[in-house]
Amino acid sequence: MNQSVTRPAVPVKVLRVALLGAGTVGRKVATILLEHADDLAAKAGCRLEVSGIAVRDATKPRAGIDPALLTEDAAGLVANSGADIVIELIGGLSPAKELIVSAIEHGASVITANKALLASHGDEIFAIAERNGVDVYFEAAVAGAIPIVRPLRESLVGDEIRAVMGVVNGTTNYILDKMSTEHQDFNQALAAAQDLGFAEADPTADVEGYDAASKAAILASLAFHSSVPGSAVYREGITDVTPEDIEAAAAMDCVVKPLAIARVDEQGRIEVRVHAAMVPLTHPLAMVHGPNNALVVEAANAGRLMFLGPGAGGSPTASAVTGDLVTVARNRVRGVVGPAHSLYQALATAPMGQTRTRYYLRFKVADQPGVLAAVAGILARHEVSVHSIRQTPTANGDDPATARVSMMTHIARESDVAACLGELENSGFVIGPVRLVRAEGV
Ligand code: NDP
Ligand code: HSE
Repeated sequence: MNQSVTRPAVPVKVLRVALLGAGTVGRKVATILLEHADDLAAKAGCRLEVSGIAVRDATKPRAGIDPALLTEDAAGLVANSGADIVIELIGGLSPAKELIVSAIEHGASVITANKALLASHGDEIFAIAERNGVDVYFEAAVAGAIPIVRPLRESLVGDEIRAVMGVVNGTTNYILDKMSTEHQDFNQALAAAQDLGFAEADPTADVEGYDAASKAAILASLAFHSSVPGSAVYREGITDVTPEDIEAAAAMDCVVKPLAIARVDEQGRIEVRVHAAMVPLTHPLAMVHGPNNALVVEAANAGRLMFLGPGAGGSPTASAVTGDLVTVARNRVRGVVGPAHSLYQALATAPMGQTRTRYYLRFKVADQPGVLAAVAGILARHEVSVHSIRQTPTANGDDPATARVSMMTHIARESDVAACLGELENSGFVIGPVRLVRAEGV
């Protein structure tokens, strides 16, 4: 029996979309917009017509993109093309900020993947958008394809978020994962991440933690309804993680992960930090491999939720951008805007010294009677309690009168551990620096 299939009527309303940037992400967004126009129209309830694509160099060949759409005049495209929606995929602070503000002031809704910009000027941009009655959507700014912005902003808004912890940078997770699982060299793994399109234009943003700090700031703002700028995030990169750290973690059934952590402490302040940390192999974040990202959200009523998936790369990020595009288009068709950025709490951020977690410490000592007792004395004076300790002879080639001590502490305060490090390094029996790696979920 033949069954007739009812197709949705092709929407007649047209929204004009200006795309700024046709690099790793922009190129993929352009391709989806051009190749899946009917499908997107059916979902959005309007046709999405590309009014132009701004790039730095319009003469570069770009497969699948009609050269007639390209322009090097991004400001002109925003101001003069009658765009209803502007998608900013240029990156960086300027001219991205000026272009976004201009788009909003010309009445366009904006979609951006630009976490660096939102972490430094987000509040200002959201305020201008609210005044002008347009949307600013940014799902792609945190964790690529993983829906996390909308769950925090909408699905979980009735709950009380207590902590968000995760891997939010694909490049550094890829590097540490390759160092752990394939014993690859740091630079070799970074070069591969760049080739695969995960790394930022300047990979310093990835390996020094700036990218993750921007994302942590956005997550903390959303989770705790407070303004948290990127500059409030404690940040360490992964460039000083050594193969020895990775081996030490493995010996303790842990793995080193690039973490972003945002939580509310006992005093009701926001603790927000980005650094490499050891996590047990049994922890859900230990299973996050390659350029994948993952987030564990702890909420008063929902309990513990985990979000996992591709956190970088053209197609995954374009998925988040086009999801925002359909949502923003639907809003415009209905003449509404999405929820405003909610910052009603105004919580303070806690100084890093007040952080409480566990610490792995490693150092070389003179192998003499009383040294371990002296080490224990220093830790005890600062109320740092040892969970486990190991002394091993130093490697071949080292002075045989020295030994290597490695230990894991119980939960301790960062400022107390820092004081121990200072005293240990000046004690006369500790040789060289003390290596510290924080440990989470142990
Ligand atoms: P790329 O460097 O690959 O692309 C940037 C694009 O912007 C290029 O097409 C470039 O033109 C264009 N451009 C740069 N400056 C200007 C300017 N002044 N005027 C007009 N066009 C300009 O960046 P990505 O695609 O990797 O990243 C874009 C955004 O998405 C960034 O904010 C990034 O942080 C974010 N993001 C990226 C992810 C990824 O995996 N790559 C994942 C999540 C977010 P031309 O091609 O001529 O050089
Ligand atoms: N450079 C970023 C990363 C892109 O490696 O995660 C995604 O934001």
